[in-house]
Amino acid sequence: MDIWISKSLTMLVAIALLFIASGCEKLDNPLNPEVDSVQNNNPLPDEEAIPQEEKIKIGFSMDTLEEERWLRDRDLFKSAVESLGAEVEILAANGDDALQVLQAETLISQGVDLLVIVPHNAEAAATIVKKAHLAGIKVLSYDRLIKNADIDLYVSFDNERVGELQAESITKLVPKGKYVYIGGADTDNNAHLFKKGVFNILQPLIDKGDIKVVYDQWTKNWLPSNAYANMQEALNANGGKVDAVIAANDATAGMAIQAMIEAGIAGAIPVAGQDAELAAAQRIVEGTQTMTVYKPIPTLAEEAAKLAVAMARGEYIDTSRKVNNGKVEVPSVLLSPIAVNKLNIEETVIADGFHLEEEVYQGNNR
Ligand code: GAL
Repeated sequence: MDIWISKSLTMLVAIALLFIASGCEKLDNPLNPEVDSVQNNNPLPDEEAIPQEEKIKIGFSMDTLEEERWLRDRDLFKSAVESLGAEVEILAANGDDALQVLQAETLISQGVDLLVIVPHNAEAAATIVKKAHLAGIKVLSYDRLIKNADIDLYVSFDNERVGELQAESITKLVPKGKYVYIGGADTDNNAHLFKKGVFNILQPLIDKGDIKVVYDQWTKNWLPSNAYANMQEALNANGGKVDAVIAANDATAGMAIQAMIEAGIAGAIPVAGQDAELAAAQRIVEGTQTMTVYKPIPTLAEEAAKLAVAMARGEYIDTSRKVNNGKVEVPSVLLSPIAVNKLNIEETVIADGFHLEEEVYQGNNR
């Protein structure tokens, strides 16, 4: 008799322990297996219960709203944060480091619960992280990594893979020849990752002597006018004869193509871009641009909003991935980019509603 009682008692204790252990909540995001767990220290009372003054407030310090994508990031991040019962204050610095620091100081002095930053300058933004931490505010690096700073979380796309996708697409079409590389802004850590990805693919072909990179320049401040000047310089230095162009994003690709139009070679030379801007999608179906790299911004904005609000609520975020920013191993979430060309533009950018079919084709035949 005794043995049975003690066995069933042990069983009961075991079941009770199981129940207690399952208290830790897993962020059910199949799109993103990278977030291991979110420790829910203080379960969230429903929204109505949160008095106004206690509402979570996120500060979002953006570099610029110049490129089409950043307008999307701004609006999607705002609506994602608000749908989680929190609020967000957004400031954009138009590529001015001093202004970005000032704006971040303003957000910190307003007592935001968490600061999300798209740094203009990966190094210069480190001072903002210090100021935020002194005020007890954690920092999430959005899309671009802040270097040499103690940031708490980094959410972006796999930016090295972006470069690889560009070079894989173009080397399939131009396995031999003279290449032009129009880089991004060297103040932006992403520009270095894109370039690293491109040369991961090109270098073996360069070593074999099949490919020669005849021009390779950064584009100051990502300004399309600087990309235009770069492309003109590349054409002048090579007698107008090049075989392929890889530009770090669509805005720079667009102006490189403008220089190629003026040189009468647009459409004849494969060109890679990034960001799946509408103008780029239109160029791809027209044939003056070969491909772009599509980064589903809604996924990035929603993921960053979810993690920002969770962290602002004091929840601990653990990720399976870490990225070294020169100072710390930063817990990171890196989403997958997608290569888009004329053949798959319908099932990617258009299927996702990123752009409307009629906008892309502008009445042109498919
Ligand atoms: C990069 C970003 C790209 C691009 C660029 C220019 O950091 O990842 O999508 O548009 O900035 O703002």
